[in-house]
Amino acid sequence: MSPRRAGALPLLLKLDPEAKQPLNQQIYQGLRSAILDGRLRVGARLPSSRMLAADLSISRNTVLNAYERLAIEGYLRGQSGGGTCVSTELPDDILRTRVPLVTQTPKQSRRKISKRAMRIVDVPFRLRIPELPRGLRAFRIGACALDEFPTAIWGQLVRRQYSRSAISALDYGTAPGYPPLRAAVAAYLQSARGVTCDPEQVFIVNGSQQALDLSSRMLLDPGDTVWLEDPGYVGAYGAFVSAGARVVPIPVDREGIQVAKGVRQAPDARVAFVTPSHQFPLGVTMTLSRRLELLRWAVKSGAWILEDDYDSELRYANRPLPALQGLDAQDSVIYTGTFSKIVFPAVRLGYVVVPQSMVDTFYKVRLFADVHPPIFTQAVMTDFIVEGHFGRHIRRMRTLYRERQEALLDAARRHLDGLLNVLPADGGMHLLAWLPPGIDDREASRRAAADGIEALPLSDFSLLRQHRGALLLGYSSLTPEAIHRGAKRLAASLERLIRG
Ligand SMILES: Cc1ncc(COP(=O)(O)O)c(C=O)c1O
Repeated sequence: MSPRRAGALPLLLKLDPEAKQPLNQQIYQGLRSAILDGRLRVGARLPSSRMLAADLSISRNTVLNAYERLAIEGYLRGQSGGGTCVSTELPDDILRTRVPLVTQTPKQSRRKISKRAMRIVDVPFRLRIPELPRGLRAFRIGACALDEFPTAIWGQLVRRQYSRSAISALDYGTAPGYPPLRAAVAAYLQSARGVTCDPEQVFIVNGSQQALDLSSRMLLDPGDTVWLEDPGYVGAYGAFVSAGARVVPIPVDREGIQVAKGVRQAPDARVAFVTPSHQFPLGVTMTLSRRLELLRWAVKSGAWILEDDYDSELRYANRPLPALQGLDAQDSVIYTGTFSKIVFPAVRLGYVVVPQSMVDTFYKVRLFADVHPPIFTQAVMTDFIVEGHFGRHIRRMRTLYRERQEALLDAARRHLDGLLNVLPADGGMHLLAWLPPGIDDREASRRAAADGIEALPLSDFSLLRQHRGALLLGYSSLTPEAIHRGAKRLAASLERLIRG
């Protein structure tokens, strides 16, 4: 029987049999420096001396000798169940000399990273998610009411899938995703969103972020231009920058993205990224005439429209307009949606609908990115949809979030009058709260964070920064009591800033 492998450890140890230094000394020094610079973490388990010796093709005594010396010096310790690991209590001098690798930015490092990675690191948006203690998360945006998710039902579906799973379910799946889920998503999108598609046009992806990444790979070359709604979605900006694209911010008005301005500023754009159902973060619904104007431009110029329908389920007033994709007769639109907002974000499942003519291309792009999404989660999601739990959960969340939005409006009337103008919205998970003229929203947000309130400034989502200061107030994950408490706290913070 062949010995088990010693993991990555042999790769950390560059042994030179010709060197003057004996092998045990080389192993000792290799392991010691790996511990010191953090490549071998505190508590990490080492392979047995027998395994490491076999992997390095050296005698076991040589390894034992190095292990013993490191143990005597306090770098390694034996574990109760056998085996050796890196000491959790390293000597003081070691702690002082440890290089904090994780806090080093690529700019400070001597090793080069790609220009592409530098562009990503330099993304100017600051999407700050402050680490506030639990229970003080008013007013985080985009957060589901996770405590209202039917975890018991989900658990039953998980258990059933496990007990049902045949050996074949453990094998590789297909790049576009689990066929029953693609069929379920196609049926849902046709009826709920007016999307025109066959199941074969539907690709299951790891959240809509992956849809944006794969679409960018498929559509963009370095230097190509992309229209991004401004203010707009940071995740899309990051995906386009990753592809080397030049992002041109196009302002949004009451009707949605200002197509005429886009045509003036970047007529040759390859892609226009839009959130027509519920513009992120302003909440505007793109009007029909703007949709048609956008489609006409795309057809005329040969550009693509990337439609992100990220929270279309969450509509509280009026019937939602069908997706823009349903109006497209010329294969201009790539449509994406996500389960992050309505099921739960950790599920990391979303979908893309590509035109029939792009199915084969997208297949290859996906295959070489991550092969396919995990089958098991897709199977559970399929059951969740086809057995009616998905539809029921959407209906429940609509009612709950509508009530929570009303609670926020009520709290704003009571506590934030004169400090913030909080506007109602037809849907979504946050409200836009306008500050009095002249008040800097980043400063207001910083002050609120210091007072334990998370209220992201609109400026963090804008390259143009042409608008008045505003804060984004999420309400969907908060009880009415938490909303009122948060509003009072935010009022006190703003009072100090605005009224001195
Ligand atoms: C505009 C927009 N699109 C998509 C998403 C969801 O992304 P994902 O599916 O990758 O979780 C979000 C989440 O905040 C969003 O705001």
